[in-house]
Order: sequence, then C-alpha cells, then structure tokens
Amino acid sequence: MKFFLDTADLNEIEEAASWGALAGVTTNPSLYARIGGKLSDFHNHIKRICDIVDGPVSAESVAMTRDEIVRDGRELAAIAPNVVVKVPTMVEGLAATHTLAAEGIPVNMTLCFTVPQAILAARSGARYISPFVGRFDDISEDGIEQLGNVVAAINNYDFTPNTVNGEQVEIIAASIRSANHVTQAALMGADIATVPFGVLKKMVAHPLTDRGLDAFMKDWEKVQNA
Ligand code: G3P
Repeated sequence: MKFFLDTADLNEIEEAASWGALAGVTTNPSLYARIGGKLSDFHNHIKRICDIVDGPVSAESVAMTRDEIVRDGRELAAIAPNVVVKVPTMVEGLAATHTLAAEGIPVNMTLCFTVPQAILAARSGARYISPFVGRFDDISEDGIEQLGNVVAAINNYDFTPNTVNGEQVEIIAASIRSANHVTQAALMGADIATVPFGVLKKMVAHPLTDRGLDAFMKDWEKVQNA
C-alpha cells in the first residue's frame, strides 16, 4: 500500500515528505478552502505542492460540464508533470475523463461510493478511483465493507488506463478517518490510502510503543548511572 496525504497544507506536506513514506497528495476544494486558499493562487499552490512531492498530486476540477472539465483538466495538467486531474463521478465527469485519458492526462475519479460507479470510472479511462470510506460511516453505513466491494470488483478485471504505459488502475481509499480504516483498507488490498495528516501521525503511534520506549529510556538511565 502507498500513502498519499489528503491535504492542501504545505507544512503538513513538507513534514510528511520528510518521513520518506509519502507517495503523493490529494487535494479537493474543501481542503483548499480550509487553508484559506484564494482562487487566484490555486494553480501556484498546486505547483508548490508538486515541487515538494515526488509523486502524483490530485487537483480537482470544479466545473460541471464535460467541456469545462476537459478545459480545466488540460490547464491543471499543464501546471506540472505529476498533476492528476480529480474529476467527480457523474455523467459529465465520465465523458470528460474519457477525453482527458485519451490525451494521456491521468484522472483520479472522486466521490466514488459504489461498485458500478467504480467500474464506470475504470471503463472511462480513470487512472485512479477514489472510493470514500468515512462518508459512508457518517450516514451509518459500513464504508470499509463498501471499499472491500470496490476492491474485489475492480480486481476481477484487467483495467489498464491508457494514460500510463502498462500500469493498472489503482484504488485510492479516500475519506479515511482513522488508522483502523488504513488497516482494513490494506488488508483488503486497496493500492493507496489518502490520509489526513492527523491520521498519518496516529498511524505511527501505539501505546505499547510509547510504554516500551519509556522503559528503554529509564533502563538506559540506570546504565548511565551504574
Ligand atoms: O479527498 C477526498 C476525501 O478524502 C475527503 O475526505 O474526510 O472529507 O470525507 P472527507
């Protein structure tokens, strides 16, 4: 499993990149708004992320028609070679993805919840598919079970997008809210988990690690005073 950071915060991205385990970044309009992002600076901000991260950086189109999404997608893809255009799962999004993929522009199909949506995304040429986990949990449904269905269904077939030579479509477990979500997503074979920085920090930690470290430090003090 690869880890992407689900944020537009440059400090978080720089910190996570320094840990060596960061394979990419996903952003969305809400995450950009959360850092106080301005429309006029959006492309520059995505460029700054691309300069930090050696991997795919998803930047979302907010257009609602296929022509506008395609235009957005071309502009976003021109920002840097590692930009992936994030497109919502909807009819206009599928049509735009079909066009963008044919031009070699990688698409991350977002707001994906069901198996049929995921298969349609793969058929349209998406390079990445992002099933959302936490938002199912928000409405008292089992997001992990839904993610498992998507992983199983996509892996039943040979979806090779034409944007990247020979590479298979990859599933990004998104809307991840806990380290346990990451565990479950990894066990079911999701290719990537995109996680908020807070979850990434929790993934490193365990009370037994803290307890063990504390004991080692105390014993080392004894060694020094012996
Ligand atoms: O990037 C899309 C997704 O990860 C958003 O997560 O927590 O807003 O449902 P959340």
